[in-house]
Amino acid sequence: MSQTWWRGAAIYQVYLRSFADGNGDGVGDLAGLRSRLPYLKDLGIGAIWLNPWYPSPMADGGYDVADYRDIEPVFGTLAEAEKFISEAHELDIKVIIDVVPNHSSTESAWFKEALADPSARGRFWFADEPLNDWQSIFGGSAWTQVPDGQWYLHLFAPEQPDFNWTNPEVHQEFENVLRFWLDRGVDGVRIDSAALLIKSDTGYEDLDEVHDVYRRWREVADEYGERVLIGEVWLPDQERFARYLRPDELHTAFNFDFLSCPWDPAELRKVIDLTLATHTPIGAPPTWVLSNHDVTRPVTRYGRADTSFAHGGALHGSPSDLELGYRRARAAALLAMALPGSVYVYQGEELGLPEVEDLPDDLRQDPMYARSGGTNPGRDGCRIPLPWSGEEPPYGFGAGTPWLPQPESWRKLTVEAQRTDLGSMLNLYRTGLGLRRELLGDGTLAWLDLGPDVLAFTRDSGLTCVTNLGAGPVPLPPGEVALASGQLEDGLLPSDTTVWLTAS
Ligand code: NOJ
Repeated sequence: MSQTWWRGAAIYQVYLRSFADGNGDGVGDLAGLRSRLPYLKDLGIGAIWLNPWYPSPMADGGYDVADYRDIEPVFGTLAEAEKFISEAHELDIKVIIDVVPNHSSTESAWFKEALADPSARGRFWFADEPLNDWQSIFGGSAWTQVPDGQWYLHLFAPEQPDFNWTNPEVHQEFENVLRFWLDRGVDGVRIDSAALLIKSDTGYEDLDEVHDVYRRWREVADEYGERVLIGEVWLPDQERFARYLRPDELHTAFNFDFLSCPWDPAELRKVIDLTLATHTPIGAPPTWVLSNHDVTRPVTRYGRADTSFAHGGALHGSPSDLELGYRRARAAALLAMALPGSVYVYQGEELGLPEVEDLPDDLRQDPMYARSGGTNPGRDGCRIPLPWSGEEPPYGFGAGTPWLPQPESWRKLTVEAQRTDLGSMLNLYRTGLGLRRELLGDGTLAWLDLGPDVLAFTRDSGLTCVTNLGAGPVPLPPGEVALASGQLEDGLLPSDTTVWLTAS
């Protein structure tokens, strides 16, 4: 099995708007990100995945792309993006960008052309009347009418018209877009809504023809050598999921089963086993994801009575014991980092940020909020600008007022405050990622049986990872403690704690 970088990488997700603001307008940007590259290097990550950075009216946080070959002016310029790519490479950090092939923006040149000229509508799904009763994933109808009476399809917000992938022009356009960025040195692309591209009378989820698209994309990526295609594929059916990872398709895909899994030993064991059983036969590395810009932050999720995650916002506001959640999030981080494959860290996860659940409604920007008629609070609470330093907002995020307000309580969670605290979440991630580079990454695991409440396994390198999800402390197997997510109690592993052991 070839040991290419993406098989075992620790990939840090940058939500650019909220990472660091270099020009003081309250919105994160490339200047801010470039200035913080040493922070990411020091954290020990091997790659950065950036959410969409293209010109966009931001109807859906940039997932409404107006021009796939340029940079949103609020974020910077194309020249700056190129500088960023080479600066990251100088630090031996790979760069992964987000490509959005399912839908565009109503502000894109193609859609504007389609609006102006009905004969130029073949790149989208236009019809004289809605062709079905599909609902938008953000709520409401998936069809919107234009002034001349026709309707167009949008699986997400009305500002995000879906491409018609039966049109060869769409295929050609995206191959060109891939080349545009691969030529500029990006090391991979994360493919948004990867299973939704093809539409038919029966539906749009995971239709067989979508694989033809990725086979072609793989040919393009392979021309460039070590580049990676990563699918955003939410599919509970493992057999269908695995089809995306066949040797001539995508390299990896996000493991949303792990992210959604409750903090429960049997459930986690089931998900881990299923993940390995899905990936091993096809030779694709699993991915381990605890959070991203679409889901409730782990500290809040793991402190609730129901620790699972599902879209829909039903659990929002349900009470969370943040201390408990924090403790479990630490344990989960070491568990995720120890599993074979690649691991994702969503910005702020390394600071133990909780979900911000009390944003005033009039500040909410996520279309999910408005389109659900306010029943779903949306995803703004995990997208709050990062706290870097200082005692009060904007906590070193930038000189201006951040585009979403940061809580007063984040004073203790800044990078500056955590850097010097050896027991902080930041230092747990730093040390964990450092050890992971030496001892973990791609490979296999062997389970150890330490009882039904304990997840324990040994990795190829000899490192043993033990997570206690039971109510009381448990004895440890032999080994030397290399890292623990919490204090051991008289040599025992307390509840909701993970330890890494090396052979003594
Ligand atoms: C998935 C992205 O992660 C999410 O943020 C976005 O809203 C949808 N795809 C639509 O692009």
